[in-house]
Parts: sequence; structure tokens; C-alpha cells
Amino acid sequence: MKINILTLFPEMVKGGLSQSIIKRAIDEGRLQLNTYNYRDFTHNKRRDVDDAPYGGGAGLVMQIEPVKSALLSIDPTHQSHIIYMTPKGKQLTQKRVRTLSESEHLTILCGHYEGFDQRIIDTYVDEEISIGDYILTGGELAAMVLVDAMVRLKPGVLGKAASHQVESFEDDLLEYPQYTRPECYGGLTVPEVLLSGNHAEIDDWRYAKQLELTYRRRPDLLRTHLAQYSVKTPKVQLRRLRKCLAAVGLERLLSAELSVRASRQNKRLQKRKKTL
Ligand code: ADE
Repeated sequence: MKINILTLFPEMVKGGLSQSIIKRAIDEGRLQLNTYNYRDFTHNKRRDVDDAPYGGGAGLVMQIEPVKSALLSIDPTHQSHIIYMTPKGKQLTQKRVRTLSESEHLTILCGHYEGFDQRIIDTYVDEEISIGDYILTGGELAAMVLVDAMVRLKPGVLGKAASHQVESFEDDLLEYPQYTRPECYGGLTVPEVLLSGNHAEIDDWRYAKQLELTYRRRPDLLRTHLAQYSVKTPKVQLRRLRKCLAAVGLERLLSAELSVRASRQNKRLQKRKKTL
């Protein structure tokens, strides 16, 4: 995977992405990371990249020329998918990270000041991404977040292939709690089931904990997870879901979800009947 990052602070990006797992991915050739400074593509003596906004107002706006020159030099025929990191972008999700991690070639634009001249975005940018509803001083940290999240999903980057199979957001659930030695610490013990060696029971306990935690912290996510189930889901799977929900006192959620779905389906059928 090849990623170009355009920024006013290449050292910040290189520094942030030159440790631990990402460093190993670079060393092993799984990631080719190139950073570029917009200032190296300016044509004025002072290497200015910004100017005052038309219409007035505080702050400075990134000019078209250095960004355009950088892009034309790095990717003259627009082969890469060009992403602009901005709080105005669509919020990043694990699903989007997964899809983007399958790209061969990405170019990430980091903004500073009051952002880019809109014509850069309209002409060159394929996608605008935000990492959350808060404002950073620039797009660099956001770009690093995106790169880190994508690279760890590349085959061979994480030690064990399974280590990102069961984790938060995969399957629209938060991760279950984990424990390691010692078995008892300051009177706090590891849940018995995890010591039982019964893998079916352990899986059910973990799934129940995921349902419970997601219900408490991210009910929106749990709704998406439950939407995978329907009356057509194999009985054995529905039975397991019901059992795990019941284990954490949430059985009513399934009945509610299925009855909402059934009534929606009913309405749709009635509508169709009327139009026939
Ligand atoms: N630049 C500044 N804030 C940002 C955010 N929240 N997401 C992406 N890029 C940004």
C-alpha cells in the first residue's frame, strides 16, 4: 500500500508514524509512506502557502497553487484516491477504514489555518474525512489516525491474524472485557467462566458482555448489530442471541427489534397491495 501525505509539517507526520507496528509495516515493505511539504511546491520567494480569505474574516486560507503543484508532481494523472482531512468531512468509521485499507494508493491532504480554497476541494479531492466532532489545529493528527487504523488491518501487519477479528466496532459491537494473570488481584477475581475451558460457554459470555457494553455505551451501534437479525435468521443463531441478551437482562430488546421490523414489513406489504 502506498500513501502520500501532503502537509506543512512532514516531520510531525513522519515522527508519529515511525514507531512500533507502523514502523515494522514500513520496514517490511507493506507500507510505502511518502511525506511532502506544500512549501516545496511554492513559486514565491517567501514560500508562502496561504492568504487572507475573500470576503474578510479571521485566519488564512491555503492557496490553490502549492497544493495543485504538489499534486501534479506526485500524482500527475490522479491515479490515487485523494482524501482531504477536515472536520467538515464525513465521520470516519471502522467500516470505511476497512474499505480504504484495501486501496493500493492513497494521497492524504492535511489542511492548516482556515482550510483550503474550495476550488482545490472541488477540483482534486475525492473524499473529505473527519475523525470526530472536534477541531484540531491541523489535519496531521487526523491523517495519522487514518493511516494507523488502516495499516493495522493489512494482512501480516498484526502478529496474529485473529487479533482484529474480535474487537470493538467489528460486527457493530464494542469489545468484551479481557483478563490476564493473576487470577485474583486485591480481592478482584477473573470471571469463573473464563477459567472453565468450555469454549462455547466462553464465547457466549463474551458475546453477552459485548451486547451489554454496547447497549450501555453505544445504543446506536447495538441497533445496527441487531438489525442483522430477522425472522429469517437460522433458529440456532436467534436462540443464541436471545440467550446472551437474557444473560445480561436485555432479552426485551430482541422482541422489540423484531416486532418493529415485522410491523414495518407489514406496512410495506399493505402498501404494495394497495398499489396493485
Ligand atoms: N482537521 C482539524 N480537525 C479535524 C478533524 N476533526 N478531523 C479531520 N481533520 C481535521
